[in-house]
Amino acid sequence: MKNFSRLCCALLCAASVLSACAGQSNPFDNQEEVRLPIMGWSSWNTFLCDISEDLICGQADAMVETGLKDAGYSYINIDDGYTDGRGEDGFIRIDTTKFPNGMKVVADYIHSKGLKAGIYADGGNNNCGTRDVRPYGLEVGLWRYEEQDTKMYFDDWNYDFIKIDFCGGLWRKLDVQEQYTKIADAIHKCDKQDIRFNVCRWAFPGVWVREVADSWRTTNDIELDWASIKRITLENVYLSAYVGGGHYNDLDMLEIGRELPEDEERTHMAVWCIMSSPIIIGCDFRTIPERSIELLKNQDLLAMDQDRLGISGAPVAFADSVLVLAKDMETFHGPKRAVVVTNLSGEEASIDVPLADLGFRGKVAVYDCFQHADRQDICLSDHITVKVAAHGSEAFYLTGKRIDKTSYQAEEAFLNAYSELEEHADRTPHVYFSTSADLGMYACGLGGREDNWMEWQKVESSKGGRYVVTVRYACADESGMKMSVNGAEAASFDNLNTGAELEWAETSAVVELNAGYNTIRLENADAAMPAIDRITVKEYR
Ligand code: GAL
Repeated sequence: MKNFSRLCCALLCAASVLSACAGQSNPFDNQEEVRLPIMGWSSWNTFLCDISEDLICGQADAMVETGLKDAGYSYINIDDGYTDGRGEDGFIRIDTTKFPNGMKVVADYIHSKGLKAGIYADGGNNNCGTRDVRPYGLEVGLWRYEEQDTKMYFDDWNYDFIKIDFCGGLWRKLDVQEQYTKIADAIHKCDKQDIRFNVCRWAFPGVWVREVADSWRTTNDIELDWASIKRITLENVYLSAYVGGGHYNDLDMLEIGRELPEDEERTHMAVWCIMSSPIIIGCDFRTIPERSIELLKNQDLLAMDQDRLGISGAPVAFADSVLVLAKDMETFHGPKRAVVVTNLSGEEASIDVPLADLGFRGKVAVYDCFQHADRQDICLSDHITVKVAAHGSEAFYLTGKRIDKTSYQAEEAFLNAYSELEEHADRTPHVYFSTSADLGMYACGLGGREDNWMEWQKVESSKGGRYVVTVRYACADESGMKMSVNGAEAASFDNLNTGAELEWAETSAVVELNAGYNTIRLENADAAMPAIDRITVKEYR
């Protein structure tokens, strides 16, 4: 027995040494399989409520014929417009002029093409399209019918995805979190497995949504113009921290294939892909230009969207309307990164981005996702230099030796109490644009409550050890804050008055980091915190 336990101990020790060694080779990567953002088509952008069985089945056929199915698109989503009120038996009625054979037949047809079927409902009583066409969408929402209707959609009709709007929820003044949670619970009770659930509340509704939904709309509806693409891009720049574990910001259905200029379509696709949004085509496949089909099939861009890490690109540079987003690919802190450079201005522009800011040192290989070719010409000694057309984007993979990130912006922080829905009675955290802030954004409205903290959850340290963390902050009163590292209090800063609201100053603390990812939190449960622009994290020497 004694020998046996000695043997066990030796084996355990050997195993822990081995895993420590494995950890040393990449202390950052402990990635589990996550669900990837869905790819497909939806009826709303082009057809609004003017849909029918013939139309939906025809678009499913075209998804296959255009080769988009082979390129990875698999969902055919029916949006608003198929209902005709709720019958006296308590079940929703289908508009039989549009869907004479009911909705199950349509799902069956979509499945027969090797595709998945999506449907639409409201979390309240009425559907959103009720505004335009009455009374088809009255009383067809999930409110008070959560279990009955979800069972019908998934177990009886066999749909695979549902988008749940909230117009009726607003009219009924329902609590957003409570109602969507109730619906998620009803979905979990269905027999059908692998159901995807999208929350459509037209704004980031709060961090609770990550527990409830696969994806959530972060903005008002997209429209067929450049202003929408720019607005949605900017509104999502500071939402990257909420993506992860198979849960995604939904930047809305694509307007590609509906005659936007080529450069704008490129931006639309590249930004949606690096942010790992669901990629839901919104055009009519019968009239889609060849150029747009090619863009939608761009495997290099789709690989960014469908990367196994399931994370969103975060801002690395943002100057003169040129935004640079980057993210790790395939392995956390591994050799390959995706980079998208987007020109939000109406003039051609160019930008130099230091390789160190992109997380690299030494020689870097550059691959162009639009030209599908190596682009060593844009990589100069210690930076890349990229020229971008007005409203256009360039997209690259960079591969090389990684270095630890040293600058962490407010706009990539996880703000635990962040919600775009309601003002909190005490303090509501916000991210604001200001030319006085590094990369043009800062966070404020933090502190004053226990849950109102900000955190960087992936602070990198390859070796572990002592680091100097420097906070850039601004504050018009005597506020203070605490810093904790990996859950333990590491520093306390008092009286951080800088004289004015956007008068920035810096304060530092020496902290101990583990090898791999670390969490750095700034908080003040009792009083308001200063505005925060960024932290920098440098080895202590
Ligand atoms: C909106 C939603 C659109 C579409 C429409 C249907 O609220 O954002 O994407 O679903 O309702 O009426």
